[in-house]
Amino acid sequence: MQEIYGVIGDPISHSMSPDMHNDAFAHQELEAHYNAFHVHTEHLEDAVKGMKAIGVKGFNITVPHKTAIIPLLDRIDPLASAIGAVNTVKYENGQYVGYNTDGLGFVSGVKEQLNGLLKDQRTLVIGAGGAARGIYFSLVKEGVCQIDIANRTISRAQQIIDDNPYEAASEALSIQEAEGQLEAYDLIINTTSIGMSPQVNEVPLSLNHLRKDAFVCDIIYNPLETKFLSEAKQKGASVQNGLPMFIHQGALAFHIWTGIWPDTERMKAIVLRKLGG
Ligand code: ATR
Repeated sequence: MQEIYGVIGDPISHSMSPDMHNDAFAHQELEAHYNAFHVHTEHLEDAVKGMKAIGVKGFNITVPHKTAIIPLLDRIDPLASAIGAVNTVKYENGQYVGYNTDGLGFVSGVKEQLNGLLKDQRTLVIGAGGAARGIYFSLVKEGVCQIDIANRTISRAQQIIDDNPYEAASEALSIQEAEGQLEAYDLIINTTSIGMSPQVNEVPLSLNHLRKDAFVCDIIYNPLETKFLSEAKQKGASVQNGLPMFIHQGALAFHIWTGIWPDTERMKAIVLRKLGG
């Protein structure tokens, strides 16, 4: 019998996950199908119960349900629990278990580019929302030597550092402080939505003091090159957009569900085709 997977969110029609996962299921010759389900907040509990009742084997969770879903699941993986957000659920022995592959997806994408040098990167995370939490905890778990967090509201950055379940050298900074000491960082990551379509002319922080040999990442993939990344490129830095993170969070979820690593190059081609219209 065909297994059912999916993604729940509100809105959901823009999601590229169904194309990406359905191609991966077909390519692996698995009898499975992945659907997008539009679920309003007031129906979230019923939706989770319903999916369990009809035997949905796994699903992704996107905005705005990543935190609200936690009390509705049977078990939460420790990393997802520390992050406080779940983006992947798997049916395991009658239970729905919650995982978070967003931060690890980011780390996998960066590692592809840095060839094993991630640990030595003096890192600045910009932003202190849900995405920043996932990335920060995943980088810390990876053993990265220094990870500072800059945010408009410093207390939110400090909260992430205080909640960190692992050992790390970290400082919470204002945006201005981070701008002033930017040459101290090898890896700079924008996790805020600043620069996302339609606010394409904004940047999260000034790159005046950026080093030429720095590596600058943005988790935004629409547009594929934010103003922040194009400014970094002009200063000679290497850059990465949000596409590798999106692909790898999907690949990690696929692996959690099936035990198989999908072909990430195929996934990337499908998402690029979809983004291109
Ligand atoms: P997500 O879960 O997607 O990370 P979020 O929790 O809303 O989203 O967090 C958004 C982050 O972007 C926050 O760090 C936010 O700063 P505050 O903590 O001060 O709110 C930051 N952010 C969003 N819009 C911003 C803006 N116009 N200027 C500065 N920071 C902004």
